[in-house]
Amino acid sequence: MRSIVILISGRGSNMEAIVRAAQAEQWSARISAVISNRADASGLEFAAAHGIPTEVIPNRDYATRHQFDTALRAKIDAYAPDLVVLAGFMRILTTPFVDHYRGRMLNIHPSLLPSFPGLATHHQALAVGVKLHGATVHFVTPDLDHGPIVAQACVPVLEGDSEEALAERVLEQEHVIYPRAVRWFVEGRLLLEGARVRLTPAAVGATEAA
Ligand code: GAR
Repeated sequence: MRSIVILISGRGSNMEAIVRAAQAEQWSARISAVISNRADASGLEFAAAHGIPTEVIPNRDYATRHQFDTALRAKIDAYAPDLVVLAGFMRILTTPFVDHYRGRMLNIHPSLLPSFPGLATHHQALAVGVKLHGATVHFVTPDLDHGPIVAQACVPVLEGDSEEALAERVLEQEHVIYPRAVRWFVEGRLLLEGARVRLTPAAVGATEAA
């Protein structure tokens, strides 16, 4: 049974999609904890309602990024996770923290990386006028939003799109690719080898998640 810790900062809809998939598909994994840097993260309510331990470590309580990351790491490691899942965790992480979880920390970013790293990705996409936009699941490395790519999904950018409409279309795809990628990891099929992602095929007869 694999142990997963999920970090959120807000709504937590990706966390929710992962929790629901783990239950519906009976993964050999448990969500050991959901941890937030914000006490008002609404996703904490969903986690608690589903019997998942929740923790809050307010980043404002720490003078430096390093001190916060050290406290966060101690909290995460108390659950001895095989995988750490960043699901809308809106913090830039220090290199020692990221290195500690090398090959066992995933993130989802709302753009087709390497396009539009950072914030306001939907705004950036509309400003540039791309016709395709999307989301990316990647292993986390110290280079922000540039880790090895695990999965992507794309959506069309439609004439007259607002940021909100585009974000909603992308989020729907996030809820498909993120649970799928986490499941690959749980099944032992997803590995980071150096700077490359290796995904081994599903066993013969196994059903791939939709
Ligand atoms: C998602 O769109 C996720 O891709 C994005 O924040 C949103 C969180 O939504 N993450 C980032 O921008 C990370 N740089 P959620 O809390 O409902 O999962």
